[in-house]
Amino acid sequence: MKIDEDRFLSDLHTLRGFGAAGVGKGVVRPAYSPADVDARKWLAGKMQEAGLRVEMDAMGNLFGLAEGPSILMGSHSDSQPEGGWLDGALGVIAALEVARASRAAGGPAISVVSFQDEEGRFGVTTGSAVWGGHLSLAEADKLTDHVGAALGDAREAVAHMVTGDVSPDQFSGFVELHIEQGPTLDTSGEQIGVVTEIVGIRDMKITFEGQQNHAGTTPMHLRRDAFQAVSSFNALLNDRLRNVVTPQTVWTIGHVSLHPNASSIVPGRAVFSMQWRDGQTDRLARMETVIRETATEVAEAQGMSLSFGPMLGLEPVTMDNSLCAALEAGAEAVAPGNWRKMPSGALHDATNVSRHLPVAMLFVPSIGGLSHTFEEDTREDDLVAGVEVLAKAVAALGSGA
Ligand code: GLV
Ligand code: MN
Ligand code: MN
Repeated sequence: MKIDEDRFLSDLHTLRGFGAAGVGKGVVRPAYSPADVDARKWLAGKMQEAGLRVEMDAMGNLFGLAEGPSILMGSHSDSQPEGGWLDGALGVIAALEVARASRAAGGPAISVVSFQDEEGRFGVTTGSAVWGGHLSLAEADKLTDHVGAALGDAREAVAHMVTGDVSPDQFSGFVELHIEQGPTLDTSGEQIGVVTEIVGIRDMKITFEGQQNHAGTTPMHLRRDAFQAVSSFNALLNDRLRNVVTPQTVWTIGHVSLHPNASSIVPGRAVFSMQWRDGQTDRLARMETVIRETATEVAEAQGMSLSFGPMLGLEPVTMDNSLCAALEAGAEAVAPGNWRKMPSGALHDATNVSRHLPVAMLFVPSIGGLSHTFEEDTREDDLVAGVEVLAKAVAALGSGA
């Protein structure tokens, strides 16, 4: 099977053109935005050109299907509100290239997917969560983004492309190539990571409601300032989690919305995202207890009312042994002695797909360990090495995986 490097890199750059923004190779292509829909239309054309049958389900997950049983490969083509050109896009275009090369060589049948809203504009990996059966379409439709738009309304943007459900029964396994999005491979100088497991995640919105008031006339001791509550909560939480976490555990307040968000008004309401990730389900649960208790304590001490939004989450998932073995053999052939096995701290569609199919993942280095920023990038020879490993692995597996 012969990978066409130039065709692969050229398609990757073309995809970046949909929503290109910021410095370097930045992208703004959130789920269901015009750039996302245009990118999906272009991808559908590329799938068709590659001899694949194009299907889209109600969520906007886009499939290019081979005839008969096949291996499914791909990732997502939506981006963070400020994202890089490779997060998800690499896995989709690599899958397309391997599907084309395999077909030309008479190799195993490869189908291609670009899942929708992996980046969680509306939740956590919502497109593959619905396809994988973790979330019903009706539940997903009720999810809202940070400005209150509902997923059920947003997905109207792809309604004209929807063909129907795509059954997982036709696939023997799922393989996803992705950039690492962290510093491990970049620091060690290794070219390939074969993923062993993907961490679990919990994500919910928390609201502190105090009293909006005048910032000049309200004495400090009489204030019920929602920002002060968030600030105290954050400081206390960092302290209290110390006894629960490991050096691999992470937690993030990434979105804060203050009302009314004006210099001369004591903020009356703060709504913020609270997200935490770890490889152990029981640790995720212990962290939840600490988070809820700390928020309750701060609310009581500062005269706030407190509410918690719905808890979203995914469990940690282990990769399939025989798919991993094929990726490891491919990694050793392409980068002898220069690859490692490693866990993934980022979430991926593979987590949801694992409810239906054996799954495995491959990483290539992220320069400077940067991702979810316009600065995200990977050296071209590393991108190509990742595709070569995929090609070797699927050639060894055959369509029956
Ligand atoms: C997905 O990009 C994640 O947040 O890990
Ligand atoms: Mn991604
Ligand atoms: Mn991402």
